[in-house]
Amino acid sequence: MQTDSSFTFVLFGGTGDLSMRKILPALYEAHRAGGMLADSGKIVAVARHIADRAAYIDWVNEHVKPHVSKNGVDETAWASFLDRIEFVKIDLGNPEDFTLLRDALSGRAGIRVFYLATGPSLFVPICRALASVGLNENSRIVLEKPLGYDLKSSNAINDAVGEIFAEEQIYRIDHYLGKEPVQNLLALRFGNVLFEPLWRREWVESIQITIAEELGVEARGDFYDNTGALRDMVQNHLLQLLSIVAMEPPHSMDSDSVRDEKLRVLRALKPIDPRDIGKVAVRGQYHAGVIRGSAVPAYATEPGVKPDSNTETFVAVKVEIENWRWAGVPFFLRTGKRLADRVAEIVVNFRAVPHSALGASALRGGANRLVIRLQPNETIRLYCLAKQPGEGMNLASVHLDLAFDRFFREGQMEAYQRLLLDVINGRLALFVRRDEQEAAWRWVEPILNEWATANKPPKPYAAGTWGPAAASAMLAQHGTCWLEEEN
Ligand code: BG6
Repeated sequence: MQTDSSFTFVLFGGTGDLSMRKILPALYEAHRAGGMLADSGKIVAVARHIADRAAYIDWVNEHVKPHVSKNGVDETAWASFLDRIEFVKIDLGNPEDFTLLRDALSGRAGIRVFYLATGPSLFVPICRALASVGLNENSRIVLEKPLGYDLKSSNAINDAVGEIFAEEQIYRIDHYLGKEPVQNLLALRFGNVLFEPLWRREWVESIQITIAEELGVEARGDFYDNTGALRDMVQNHLLQLLSIVAMEPPHSMDSDSVRDEKLRVLRALKPIDPRDIGKVAVRGQYHAGVIRGSAVPAYATEPGVKPDSNTETFVAVKVEIENWRWAGVPFFLRTGKRLADRVAEIVVNFRAVPHSALGASALRGGANRLVIRLQPNETIRLYCLAKQPGEGMNLASVHLDLAFDRFFREGQMEAYQRLLLDVINGRLALFVRRDEQEAAWRWVEPILNEWATANKPPKPYAAGTWGPAAASAMLAQHGTCWLEEEN
C-alpha cells in the first residue's frame, strides 16, 4: 500500500456533504495510518463560498473532524493532516478562475487527481475548464455517481469527458466495490477450491442481495426526488454487487480482467419485457412510521420532496442471468430507505440435498446458505445442518463464522479510503468502466420508462418495516422468502 510517488489531490465540491462525511475523513485515515500517502502529497480543496485557506481550515475543523475516526482523533496526526490541505477559491461557473488552479498546481511533482464531488451537471464544464488550462495531462479524474439520469445522459457525459480524458484516466467510483467484505468475497471465491464447484445453477437455488437503510433522504430531498432508488442504488451498487457474485473467475486481478468478467455478467442480464415489469419489479414509497422507537415522517413531507411525488424509495427486483452458469437462478435485489434495519448482505441459498436419510428437515431448501454481511458487523457465515446433541437424529442449523474483526484485528479499511488510495496509485480494478455502466443503464431503462409512463403511485409502506408486501409475494412465487422472514 506504500505510496512512493507524490500527488496532488484536487477536491471539487470541497465543502459538500460527501467531502465532509467521506472523502476528507478517508484521506485523514490514510494519513494517520502512516506510509500510505507520500509525505509530499497535498490536498487542494476547491470551493466558492469560502474566502481563503484559513477559513477553509476552520470549516474542516468544525465540520469534518466530527466525522473522523470512530476511535477518536489523534491530535498530532490531525494537525499534520491539516498541513497537507491547501485551498483555491473558484467559481465553477467562471472558467477563467481555473487559471488560479493552474497557477496553484504549477511546478508540482507527481500525479494530479481531480475528484469531482459535485452534481453531474458540473462534470463536463469542469473537465472542459481543466482542459482549457492544460490540466488534463498527467492527471486522473474521479466521477461520483450518479453519472447521468439515464443511458442517454450518461453517454453524453461520458462522450464529453472522453474527449478530454482517456478511459484509463477516468475513475468512476462506486463505493460498494471498496467495502472489505466485497473484496473478501473475491478472495473466498477465487482463493479456495471449496466454493467454485458449487457456485452454479446446479447447486444454487436463489441469491438475494439487500441494501436496507434506516435513514431517510436526510438533507437530499431535492436530489433524491429527481433520482429515486432505482437510479440511486440499483443501477450502480446492486448491479455491481451482482456482477461480482456472478462473474466467472478472472484470469488475473488486473483491472481489465476483472472488469471484462463483470461486463459479461451485465451483458447477460435477461432483458425485462415491459409487460412483465409488474411481476418482476416492486417499487414502494415510505409513509410515516416508527424506527427504533422514534416517529419518522412520510417521504412526501420531507423537505425538498414534492407532496404528490411518485418517486420510489424502495425497489425489489428479480434478475436473471442468461448464461450456462446461472440460467434459471433468480437473483432478488432489494433496497430501500426507512426500512426496519440497516443491513447490506448477499445471501446465497444452496439447494436442498436430493435425498435425505436423515428426515425431512434435511430436505429443507436453505439448509446450506452463505451469508456475506457487508454492514454492519462484517462477516461471512456458512450455514449447515448439524445433529442436535442427545438422543435421536434431530438436525439444527449451525454456522461457520468468518468474523473479520476477530481474525484480523487491525488493518480494516473504509471503502472510500481504499478507493482513494487506488486512485492515487493508479489501480482501476475497483472502478466502473464505461461499458459496464452502459450495460447497467441499458438493463434498468425499461423499468425506468415503464414507471415514468405508467404514472401509478409506488406501493406505500410504513417506515420501519421491510417495504411493501408485494416484495415478499414476489419471492413467495418462487417458493422462497427474504432472509429476515425465515421462521
Ligand atoms: C449512496 C446513495 O450512493 O449510498 C445514498 O446515494 C445511500 O442514498 C448510500 O444512502 C449508502 O451507502 P452506505 O455505504 O452508507 O451503505
